Amino acid sequence: MNQVKTNYEKWYEECDGYYWGLEPAELCYEIEKIIPADKDIKVLDIGCGEGKDAVYFAKKGYKVSAFDITESGIRKTKALAQKEGVEIDAFVADINDMNINDEFDIIYSTGTIQYLEEDKKDIFFEKVKKMTRAGGINWFNVFVDKPFLPLPPDWDETEAMWNTGDLFSHYKDWMFLRSDEIIFDCNSSGVPHKHCMDVVIAKKVQ
Ligand SMILES: C[S@@+](CC[C@H](N)C(=O)[O-])C[C@H]1O[C@@H](n2cnc3c(N)ncnc32)[C@H](O)[C@@H]1O
Repeated sequence: MNQVKTNYEKWYEECDGYYWGLEPAELCYEIEKIIPADKDIKVLDIGCGEGKDAVYFAKKGYKVSAFDITESGIRKTKALAQKEGVEIDAFVADINDMNINDEFDIIYSTGTIQYLEEDKKDIFFEKVKKMTRAGGINWFNVFVDKPFLPLPPDWDETEAMWNTGDLFSHYKDWMFLRSDEIIFDCNSSGVPHKHCMDVVIAKKVQ
C-alpha cells in the first residue's frame, strides 16, 4: 500500500471526539429511500473517515463494510460501531490500490475520490462497477474545478480537482437516478469558501 498521504491520520488522532461529528451525511437518507435496509443488503463506504455514515447504515440494519487509508479513522470507526452495538467490517485500504473480492448492493463515497491518481481512475470505476450487484447503486461525489472559484484554503497537494462531467462519464452504461452539479459554502479550516461538486447516483440495471 502507498504511504499515508493525507493529513487526516493526524487530525483524527488528535481530535477530541469526532473530527466530522456524528451526524450522518444527507446521502444516507437519500440512499435508504432508494434501497431500504435489510440484513442481506450489503453496503461499502469508500473513504469512511471515522465511520459516522457506515455506523448509521449498520444501525439501520444493512450489512456494512468500510475502509479508509487512515489507521486512526478505522480505529475510531470500530470504536463507534462497538459503542452503538453494531458490527462493521472496517479495514485500512487505499482507493488507488483497492483489492476487494466481494459484491455489494450499495457502494458510496463522499469527499474522497479526489485522492484517486489520474491513471487509476478508470480501473477504480471498473472495479467498483463490477463489485456492484445487478439492481444495486453507486453514490459518488467529487470536487470540480471552476475558473470563478479559488482553490479551497485547506486544499492538499495530493488532491486533484476533476472536470465537470468526468464522474458522470464513468456511468454511461448505467441508469442515472441523479446527476447534479452543486456549489455550496464551506467553513473548513475556519476560512469561509465555496466548493463545486458533481454528484451521481447510478443504478446497475443488468
Ligand atoms: C473529506 S474526508 C471524508 C470522510 C468521510 N467520507 C466523511 O464524510 O466523514 C476524506 C477521507 O478520504 C480518506 N482518504 C484520503 N486518501 C485516501 C486513499 N488514498 N484511500 C482511501 N481513503 C483515503 C481520508 O483519510 C479521509 O477520511
